[in-house]
Amino acid sequence: MTHATGDVAERAAAGFTSQYGDRAAGRWAAPGRVNLIGEHTDYNDGFVLPFALPLRTVVAADRQDGDRWTVWSELSDETISFGADDIAEPGRVTGWGAYVAGVVWALREAGHPVPGARLAIASDVPLGSGLSSSAALESAVLAALLDLGGLELPAERQPRLAQRAENVYVGAPTGIMDQSAVIRCRSGHALFLDCRDESVEHIPFDLDAAGLAVLVIDSRAPHRHADGEYAARRRSCEAAAKTLGVPALRDVAVDQLDTALARLDDEETRRRVRHVVTEDQRVLDTVALLRAGRVRDIGPLLTASHVSMRDDFEITVPEIDTAVEASLEAGALGARMTGGGFGGCVLALVEADRVDAVAAAVTAAYAERGFTAPGTVPVLPAPGATRLD
Ligand code: GLA
Repeated sequence: MTHATGDVAERAAAGFTSQYGDRAAGRWAAPGRVNLIGEHTDYNDGFVLPFALPLRTVVAADRQDGDRWTVWSELSDETISFGADDIAEPGRVTGWGAYVAGVVWALREAGHPVPGARLAIASDVPLGSGLSSSAALESAVLAALLDLGGLELPAERQPRLAQRAENVYVGAPTGIMDQSAVIRCRSGHALFLDCRDESVEHIPFDLDAAGLAVLVIDSRAPHRHADGEYAARRRSCEAAAKTLGVPALRDVAVDQLDTALARLDDEETRRRVRHVVTEDQRVLDTVALLRAGRVRDIGPLLTASHVSMRDDFEITVPEIDTAVEASLEAGALGARMTGGGFGGCVLALVEADRVDAVAAAVTAAYAERGFTAPGTVPVLPAPGATRLD
């Protein structure tokens, strides 16, 4: 699932030296993420349970004089440069550079004197697979600029700033999950995040000790209208909360769900609300099982989450449903789409000795239906963003 060969941190350092003729002052890494459970709950002030991936984006950087930022990315092997004028308002820097410019813009908007910088970016997080390559990029750049400028911004406040870069500068109306996961996750743990007050609990998720694995399956499904559909789901949830007279759908208690649904007059909105309210409860149930050390028992909750995304929230596509079904038929304990939907990845909880069999079953089911072959990789919960050297 990688873009280039060789160690990603070495690629960033080598890229920096070949672009700028110097050694970088330091390197900062931020991972991609998968969400174990809790989909489309973040912007409803609800609960999520992501963990960080061992796939990372690395930024090698140093300061440069003046308000100028120069950025090389291995992905397009292209160097862009922008100054204070370009980030005076959102929208002037576009493409992948917008994620970098957005972070500079958000830092300045929050009153931080961001230093000019030269950056080189390398990444193992696949783009467009729903593994938060954008949050990884924002968070690695943020960590680099904070350190280079000697700026103080506690880790728990960094996700909002990176999210603002994405929401306002890039213009994607995403919630707080991805940046929180990328910045705050810990190795061997899933991050139980309350998206209303951003409090977190690190829940032990030791797959190795349990003899289990999470297989991430890249559906390779082309993103079909993902942005527009995401925004539409968000609008529909916010409208429903308004009708129900609550600040957010998180405030609809699961035992009051039927009463709430009866107050909504169209069937589509009822399905959307049912997904969000039951999904919040599935996150809480998953956390309770993990706290009790019952890792295997979360399987049915993962699968129930998938069914809810497929039938009620209507954000899955045939490739994704095929990957889930084939995984379950091959003995996965549970499987679900992870991320925003309309493509992206599936995760399957499997016995460690069934990883190859489940991957082979999904690949065979894809071939039978004529889909582009999926990518498969077993993963363990990895650390969040960090300075490397
Ligand atoms: C995307 C968004 C997140 C979240 C998920 C769905 O990944 O960036 O904020 O809404 O979709 O759970």
